[in-house]
Amino acid sequence: MSQQKRASFGGKLSAILVAAGSAIGLGSIWRFPYMAGEHGGAAFMLVYLLCVFVVGIPVMLGEFAVGRQTKMNAVGGYRSLAKNWRWLGYCGVIGAMFISGYYYIVAGWSLEYFFSSLTGSLYSSTESFTTQFATFQASWREVLYTFLFILLTHLIIIRGVEKGIEKASKVMMPALFVILVIMAIRVAFMPGAEGGYEFFLRPNFAEAFSAKTIFTAIGQAFFSLSVGMGCMVTYASYFKEDNNLTGTSLSVALLTLLVAVLAGLVIFPAVFSAGLEPSEGASLIFVTLPEIFKDMPMAGVWSSVFFILLIMASLTSTISFHEVLTAYFLEEYNLSRKAATRITSALSLALCLLSLLWVFDIKVLDIQDTSFFDIFDYTTANILMPIGGLFTCLFVTWKMKPSFLRDQMTNHGKLRGRLFPLLWFTLRYITPLLIIYIFVKNLGII
Ligand code: PFF
Repeated sequence: MSQQKRASFGGKLSAILVAAGSAIGLGSIWRFPYMAGEHGGAAFMLVYLLCVFVVGIPVMLGEFAVGRQTKMNAVGGYRSLAKNWRWLGYCGVIGAMFISGYYYIVAGWSLEYFFSSLTGSLYSSTESFTTQFATFQASWREVLYTFLFILLTHLIIIRGVEKGIEKASKVMMPALFVILVIMAIRVAFMPGAEGGYEFFLRPNFAEAFSAKTIFTAIGQAFFSLSVGMGCMVTYASYFKEDNNLTGTSLSVALLTLLVAVLAGLVIFPAVFSAGLEPSEGASLIFVTLPEIFKDMPMAGVWSSVFFILLIMASLTSTISFHEVLTAYFLEEYNLSRKAATRITSALSLALCLLSLLWVFDIKVLDIQDTSFFDIFDYTTANILMPIGGLFTCLFVTWKMKPSFLRDQMTNHGKLRGRLFPLLWFTLRYITPLLIIYIFVKNLGII
C-alpha cells in the first residue's frame, strides 16, 4: 500500500476531536451509568477513574504509537513491526465485529426515542416508560432502526476519513456537553434527587465492592476509551507527524471522563427521584431520562435535542469501529473503499440480526436467558479488550525497544516527552500486572 496516498486528519485539534468522538458515545452515556448502577455506584466510579489513568491512558498511547509509526490498519500495523504479533491486530478486528453486533442496536434505541420525542408519543402515552421500552424491544421498529443506523454509518464511512469523520465530531461534542450540564442542573431540583448523589458520590466499599467491581470497571475503561481493540491504532494511522500523542491521549481520556461523570450526575438523581432501581440494566437511561423531561416545559423539544446528540455521539463511535474493519478489508485484501465498506456493513447487519432474534421470539442460546447481545457486550468489554490491552502493553515495552515509544512521544526529539519514564514504567509493569491480577482474581484462582 502506498503511504503517500493515505489520508490524514487536519490539525492537532482534529486528532483530539476524532479520537474523543470515538471514545465518547454510548459507553459513557448508556453503559457507564448502567454498570455503575449494577456495581455499587460511587465505589465503581472511583475504581473506574483509577483504571482510566493506570490502564486506559497508557494503552491508548501505546496504540497511538503503533498506528502513527506504521500508518496501517490494526493487523498490518502490528505485522509490519513484528510478524509474529499480527494476531494482536486480528484480536482487534474480532473485537470490532463483536461490538458491531450490538452497539448499532442500542444506537437504534436512541433513534426510536428521538422520533417518539419529536412526535410527542413518548410523553402522551398512558403507559409507563418501562412498559414503553419493553413494547419497543419486541417490535419490528427495533430492527428497522438498527438497519438505519448501520446505513447512516455506512454513508459517512464511504466518503472517507477526512470528510466524514472529522466533520461529524466537530459539531457534536460541545453541544452534547452543554445539554448534559443543563440536564444535570435540572435534575438537582427534582424531589428525592439527594439519594442519587449519595449513591453516585459516596462510596460504600464495605457493601458494594468485590473483585467483580474492579473487573467490570477495567472493562468499562477499555470500552469507553475505545482501547484494546485496534481502534486507536487505526485512527492514529491518520494522525499527522507533529501531533502530540501524549497530550492527545490525556485530553481524550479527560473529556470522556467528564461526560461519564456528567451522565452519572444526570441519571442517578433522576433514578432516585422517580423511585426506579439503579440496577435496572441496559434499559436504565431509556426509562430514566424521560422522567427528567416529562415535567419540563416543552418536554418533547428537550428530549429530542438530547436524543439527537446521543445519536451523534454514537455515530462518531460507530464510525470508528466500522473504520477498524473497513481499513482492514481495504488494505489487507486490496479492495476499494466502497467494497470494504459494503462488506463491513453487511457483516454488522448480520451480527445485529443475530442479537435481535428476541424480536422474532427466537431463542437460540437459552443459557440463563443470555442473548447474543449480552454475549457480544460482555465478551468485548471484559475479555477481548483487556486481552488486547494487556498484549499492547507487552508489545510496546517488551517486544519493541524504548526508542520506539520515546520517538513517538517526542515526535523524534522535537518534544520534550517528560512523561516518557513514567508511562514507560506503567506500560511495562503496572498496567499488565494489574490486568493479569484482576483477571486471575475474578476467575477465583487467587
Ligand atoms: N468508546 C465507545 C463508547 O464509549 O461508546 C465504544 C467503542 C468505540 C469501543 C470504538 C471500541 C471501539 F473501538
